Amino acid sequence: MLIVNSRSSRIPYPEELRKIMSMKAARESGAWLSHWDQINRSVTPLWDLPDAAKRAGVAQVNLKDESFRSPLGSFKALGAPVALMRLIVRLWRSEAALDPKALIKGQYADMVSSLTVISATDGNHGKSLAAAAKAMGCRCVIVLHANVSVEREKSIAAYGAEVIRIAGNYDESVEHAAKMASTNGWHVVSDTSYDGYEAVPRDVMQGYGVIPAEILSQLESTPARSPLTHVFLQGGVGGLAAGIATYLWEHYGAERPTFIVVEPRQADCLYQSAIAGRATVATGSVDSVMAGLACGEASPLAWKFLQPCIDYFMTIDDGDAIAAMRTLAAGSERDAPLVVGESGAAGFAGLMRLTEDAELARTVGLDATSRVLVINTEGATAPVAYTKIVGEAAEAVMARQREWLLSATTAR
Ligand SMILES: Cc1ncc(COP(=O)(O)O)c(C=O)c1O
Repeated sequence: MLIVNSRSSRIPYPEELRKIMSMKAARESGAWLSHWDQINRSVTPLWDLPDAAKRAGVAQVNLKDESFRSPLGSFKALGAPVALMRLIVRLWRSEAALDPKALIKGQYADMVSSLTVISATDGNHGKSLAAAAKAMGCRCVIVLHANVSVEREKSIAAYGAEVIRIAGNYDESVEHAAKMASTNGWHVVSDTSYDGYEAVPRDVMQGYGVIPAEILSQLESTPARSPLTHVFLQGGVGGLAAGIATYLWEHYGAERPTFIVVEPRQADCLYQSAIAGRATVATGSVDSVMAGLACGEASPLAWKFLQPCIDYFMTIDDGDAIAAMRTLAAGSERDAPLVVGESGAAGFAGLMRLTEDAELARTVGLDATSRVLVINTEGATAPVAYTKIVGEAAEAVMARQREWLLSATTAR
């Protein structure tokens, strides 16, 4: 369940990669996104979890909480809108210099009404694309595979997208969307890349750079805070991990933290890619309670960035993610109760799995001096499933979080 990636190295961020993904382009994406009413105005919290750190035997655990990013419920709110904006700018380039701020506020709706965008999704990306298309005024078609829950389907349709359901899995839904686009003259806005299709997924990944940009300034504003030593990143097709790792790699250079990618055992396409030395497919059933991570094929573009910098790849079981959701929801005296969805909990679950086993912890260099970052990539994006798993509704956990914050402020 844990392998060392022998192809990763500690060198400064290479120039040829910086030409594709850079902190500069990530900051521009963040500036464009800041005009969208579906992105909350304040930065998302970076929680300090001292009790979790104590249990794990490390100095510090910070959790970046993307459940606060947007009413859309996940970090995916940062990807699709940027990619759609950049696609529109490319398509209409000859006609006018478009103002991205006006575009995301729907002021070019007449111009883009002839545009249809399509994507496959396991939930969160499709919801963000549907919301972005609605905001800008173009038509959106979303292709869902058989395992996407009706609850997730309804939340996508609520943003006005036309939903098509296929019998196959995630990868078949990606193929289906590509075929429909080429038959109908539509444009694919996918978060995964494939042969000849890289510009849009690059823009999606670049949007995720908002998260590390905030983390770095949050860490810098904390006095006497040492740099991060370990970062756990959950993997679906690899876009989130690439978006975050590249930004931190460019920032820290050869002194970057250790990166660990965590996937469901049944959807281990990145783990298998590390073994193969190229982007490849998963070995399992590609079905998991971690719906956002249930991807059977790594994104080749993401892999180009992950292979040289991810130090370890690991897999976890559905039960590990469920246990992590419950632990984080429960909170403790010094750790706030947190609403963390199934895929959102995977990074924290990976940390817990490694630190439960002294040998595994030693292998990845986790010890009493380690300063660890995990990212909660979603809140209760499927609220009924969340309540069933945690035994408490997300609203009730949030109410306990508010009480915890109040008592923490009073105690100070
Ligand atoms: C909540 C959540 N976390 C993580 C991921 C993984 O992202 P990626 O597929 O870019 O690796 C996804 C993907 O949909 C997701 O929905």
